[in-house]
Amino acid sequence: MAPVNRSMNVDMTVRLGSLELRNPVMTASGTFASGREYAEFVDLERLGAVVTKGVSMTAWAGNASPRIAETPSGMLNSIGLQNPGVEAFCQTDLPWLAARDVPIVVNVSGHSIAEYVAVAGRLDAEPDVDALEVNISCPNVDEGGMTFGTTCAAAGDVTRAVRAATSKTLIVKLSPNVTDITEIARAVEAEGADAVSLINTLLGMAIDTDTWRPKLARGAGGLSGPAIRPVAVRMVWQVASAVAVPVVGMGGIMNARDAAEFMLAGATAVAVGTANFVDPTTTVRVLDGLEQYCQERGIAQVSALTGALKA
Ligand SMILES: Cc1cc2nc3c(=O)[nH]c(=O)nc-3n(C[C@H](O)[C@H](O)[C@H](O)COP(=O)(O)O)c2cc1C
Repeated sequence: MAPVNRSMNVDMTVRLGSLELRNPVMTASGTFASGREYAEFVDLERLGAVVTKGVSMTAWAGNASPRIAETPSGMLNSIGLQNPGVEAFCQTDLPWLAARDVPIVVNVSGHSIAEYVAVAGRLDAEPDVDALEVNISCPNVDEGGMTFGTTCAAAGDVTRAVRAATSKTLIVKLSPNVTDITEIARAVEAEGADAVSLINTLLGMAIDTDTWRPKLARGAGGLSGPAIRPVAVRMVWQVASAVAVPVVGMGGIMNARDAAEFMLAGATAVAVGTANFVDPTTTVRVLDGLEQYCQERGIAQVSALTGALKA
């Protein structure tokens, strides 16, 4: 391979709907809080965007503990969208984040369509919010969450209602726990999503063979981390060829090569989730590595990787 030309200027910008990002590396919701805890490890202003933990209308306590379990090459979680509610978010986390020069994507949760709409409407009034990511794919709540992401009709209904409530860039986050994710992607695109993000966690379970109890108090939970990456790459590849809107790819990204894999499969941007728990600097490592990956290959624009998979 030719020596790396580190002076080569790579255009790292990408576009999600009307939102231009300085680079394609975002955080995955729920693994980076609102960025505050990571600020001592990561210069947030280097990121493509910060995606917040899911925010609902009122505070949610989340599920009972234990709600995290380590699994081979991954983890299970059943956090259950614990958050302080949209009002508290707008008064505390949002101003803190808005003081940084980084696009803010707020992840939106709901028990009902009315709640999704109320949260989206509240956030629409906040000029510092750049985009909404609507989570119709959380496996860890009894009502709402994934139930909206597993049929085309429900996914379309939520998207249509939220679209009417906001003029901000609208990303809809898809569940992998479906037979055909492309149908859901098409349904949300038809109702006005500007982009889709995938994948949320895969339903999984682990059992303690000493106590004979599930490792998570809730029984099942969401599997994330490198264990799910091949599933995520396959789904991004399928969805990217099924819809015209940009795709944000995630699922087990640990390094720049993993991010490149998602982009080659068709992702315009990527998000780093579970890896933040292993190494809180993963996002910037992925970013620097992606730039170097382009330099090594004489690629002038990172966006040239998107969908460049060869047969
Ligand atoms: C502890 C934890 C909390 C999460 N919370 C949310 C959430 O609030 N909203 C959401 O859309 N996804 C949530 N996710 C899913 C991640 O954003 C991501 O889609 C998934 O973990 C796959 O990426 P990863 O393997 O890089 O973690 C959560 C994941 C984890 C591990």
